[in-house]
Amino acid sequence: MQSIVKALRDAVAETAATDIRAAFAADPDRFSRYSIGLGDLLLDFSKTAVNPKIMTLLAEAAGKAGVAAKREAMFAGEKINLTEKRAVLHTALRNRANTPVIVDGADVMPDVNAVLSAMGAFADGIRSGKIAGATGKKFTDIVNIGIGGSDLGPAMTTLALAPYHDGPRAHYVSNVDGAHIADTLKLLDPETTLFIIASKTFTTIETMTNAKSARAFIADKLGEAAVGHHFAAVSTALDKVAAFGIDSARVFGFWDWVGGRYSIWSAIGLPLMISVGPENFGAFLDGAYAVDTHFRSAPFEKNLPMVLGMVGWYQRNVLGYTSRAVIPYDQRLSRFAAYLQQLDMESNGKGVVIDGSPVDGSSGPVVWGEPGTNGQHAFFQLLHQGTDIIPVEFMIAANGFEPKLRYQHELLMSNCLAQSQALLKGRTKAEAKAQLLAQKWAEDEAEKIAPHRVFTGNRPSITFVYDRLTPFALGRLIALYEHRVFVEGVMFGINSFDQWGVELGKELATGLLPVVQGAKGTEGLDSSTAGLVAALKGRAE
Ligand code: F6P
Repeated sequence: MQSIVKALRDAVAETAATDIRAAFAADPDRFSRYSIGLGDLLLDFSKTAVNPKIMTLLAEAAGKAGVAAKREAMFAGEKINLTEKRAVLHTALRNRANTPVIVDGADVMPDVNAVLSAMGAFADGIRSGKIAGATGKKFTDIVNIGIGGSDLGPAMTTLALAPYHDGPRAHYVSNVDGAHIADTLKLLDPETTLFIIASKTFTTIETMTNAKSARAFIADKLGEAAVGHHFAAVSTALDKVAAFGIDSARVFGFWDWVGGRYSIWSAIGLPLMISVGPENFGAFLDGAYAVDTHFRSAPFEKNLPMVLGMVGWYQRNVLGYTSRAVIPYDQRLSRFAAYLQQLDMESNGKGVVIDGSPVDGSSGPVVWGEPGTNGQHAFFQLLHQGTDIIPVEFMIAANGFEPKLRYQHELLMSNCLAQSQALLKGRTKAEAKAQLLAQKWAEDEAEKIAPHRVFTGNRPSITFVYDRLTPFALGRLIALYEHRVFVEGVMFGINSFDQWGVELGKELATGLLPVVQGAKGTEGLDSSTAGLVAALKGRAE
């Protein structure tokens, strides 16, 4: 791979690829050359440092990494998650064609369909009031208790699809900080609240601890006998759920071939389904399936996940950009960057390649972001004038859901387009000075101030445009990013589907609990940790 990286670096220098502004000036067709679509979804990557030579080399790099073969291995249920000896089959959860998907000699689709229809019946029951609380009252609120993949997916999508929300109010409790559950419960009536305990492993300390607090909330107010009416669970560990005391009829399973951060399509999506209804949830799965089909069949230059992945890998590994910002111009996607942080950074933040040797070059970038226009008034200063180049990924719908506020949507669209335009175009010193002189600044002062008003420009961005943020469009967007992470992971040479990097901190926290509680001393700890323990204990009331 290093020979292609070198060839790409040479090509960048020879073709002055990072002078994106010049590339636009030289080619009036640049937008149509470097924008591709899937249905109403448009991906414009013309404002990145690509040209025909770079695209050819990127295709070569993807070919050399074996992206197409590994993609097929994933869809076919091969155990590509080698360190956990697991298949990676979130795609089976939205396999709307229902074609057989074989794992260990058995088709997983009958089980997938059975859970989906059980979820549908449960969601309908909650929404209609047929399934009610212990005192017979209809549920007005559901609280999902989970963390990581058992929280971010449903929380992000429930917010994103607010215009479709006609079920009970949904709340999400994740943090082990008691403030999270306490502040949530304060708003709720136990008689009309349903808790969904969501945990793939059903061992995660945050979730189990919050689940116990929720259980006490119901038992204290309504009595022990009421507990069964007010809890449901989602997990792969059905034995552990049974031990917690949740009725098996209210337990929705999934399987070890669904990674936590890829689990929104499984029963982990239950709170979303209860919020927007089974039909909209089905449309959400349809959107993801459309991307799966496209990913497997479209030629690489028109293949959205391929192009997004290749460009991302190029920006990280060839151009050396260490982070990327994801800026949806959509307030309802305000949790999208947080969701992508787990999807991308837990998948591709790895230090070794598949055979255990160190990554040759770089692996995944830092992913971060906030919705526009808010970000413009916070960190965009650095995006425009900071010393690092940070590629930006914008997304914008042509239509909002507030026809009476069309003017606000027009403002939103113009701001989104203006930001990518400004990143590209920049402003020279001569232009800055001319502007100051026009504002009647004195010549010597204008000369001094102008550098502060210079924008280098040539800063890369990608823009997604789509009709409207429907369930279908949202499913499509998430699946697109999932496969982008896959393509990049294969090109980095890593296993994107394990997450050993989260283990050490968990182990140490378990060891530190008795120290913090005072049952064990600080002997053997480094002096910083021991000092911090003492500082906390010294301040405890
Ligand atoms: O700590 C990381 C992690 O294992 C994630 O990968 C996962 O999504 C999250 O914890 C929650 O795990 P679980 O669903 O098993 O409670």
